[in-house]
Amino acid sequence: MEFKASHRLQSVGEKYLAIQQANINQLKKSGIEVLNLGRGNPDLPTFAPVVEKAKTALDNKVNHGYPPYGGKPALKETIKQFYQREYQVALEEDEITVFSGSAAALTALPMALADPSGVVLTPTPAFFGYHIGITMSGAEEWQMPLLERNDYLPELEKIPQAVRERAQMMFLNYPHNPTGAGATHAFFDKAVQFGLDNHIAIVHDFAYADISFEHQAPSFLQSKRAKETGIEIYTLSKTFNMAGWRSAFAVGNASIIKLLKAYIQNSVGGTFGVVQDASQYALETQIEERKQLRDTYLDRRNTVIQLLKTNQLSVSQSSGTFFVWLKLPEKITDDRRFAKSLLNNAHVAVVPGSAFGDAGQGYLRISLVADTATLASGINQLITYLKQYRE
Ligand SMILES: Cc1ncc(COP(=O)(O)O)c(C=O)c1O
Repeated sequence: MEFKASHRLQSVGEKYLAIQQANINQLKKSGIEVLNLGRGNPDLPTFAPVVEKAKTALDNKVNHGYPPYGGKPALKETIKQFYQREYQVALEEDEITVFSGSAAALTALPMALADPSGVVLTPTPAFFGYHIGITMSGAEEWQMPLLERNDYLPELEKIPQAVRERAQMMFLNYPHNPTGAGATHAFFDKAVQFGLDNHIAIVHDFAYADISFEHQAPSFLQSKRAKETGIEIYTLSKTFNMAGWRSAFAVGNASIIKLLKAYIQNSVGGTFGVVQDASQYALETQIEERKQLRDTYLDRRNTVIQLLKTNQLSVSQSSGTFFVWLKLPEKITDDRRFAKSLLNNAHVAVVPGSAFGDAGQGYLRISLVADTATLASGINQLITYLKQYRE
């Protein structure tokens, strides 16, 4: 017997990256080497001291049982200190909850906070996770275009009154996947005011918090009264190369935290104690390792941007994340067709901008999760292919 997906799952659709990966696997099978500049998975290993800490934590029998929902008290205490040390933000215990990776929370939040009659505001282009969560919840998605001329910040004043009245939540994400844009304190102040004026829960996805090149990326919670209207989600996936460990937490408004914790408790459950102990250790230490990782990405970003600019291509400076956002020359009108053709003919994988939403049409996202030599080869192949490509 073969069973069909529910309407809910069908409406989510298949992720672009999964389709592209199948294409890459096919090419590999026929002996073709593909330079994959499309992934969002850190290429470097978790910092060695964190791995060692996990090995010891494995012997602790307490970690063999069900972990406490919402996180161990010791980890929550460390998160408090981490936010104080890094962002000068004071947190209370009921303003913190721990879960297994931020993707789980991004799906849980619309389920916990939005009704099918409600609206969730999302940026476009954006990380796929918001759309998936909203679709699963049955709420309506209202997209806020992020445009180059506005430094990829949404124009909140353009959101119609009728939409504001139905909106229950808003997703934001800076440093931004896929454009690499950063937010300012002034923008977050504006977002807080918008949330307060319209009774909207603001969810700031801070996945690339630590990958910011010119200055430290601002935390949403640094804005006055932010905790009255929103939360911030922090993942250890990118800061500590811990994507496979599934470790993240949310901080901010106590009522949102309570609902998120309740939803996760009833679905995914708690986070493995060993992962929590290793996460606690990572957040307490690893300052130098984090700096080295940032410098590595900076070096890669500079290599890629310089190559593209030398060839007269229009590319955003990318103030953070491990992505570079390249604008395709005007002669190319279909970014998906171009990305597919690039993969099949020049064997370089990148993600077309429109895979992140309509506002991404005409761009490519290039990932910096490969060493400099691989990146340089991939970019050179891309440049050569761009010159000869005809639609
Ligand atoms: C913007 C953004 N948010 C969230 C995630 C998911 O992170 P996690 O590994 O914590 O599920 C990603 C992963 O690529 C991302 O790019």
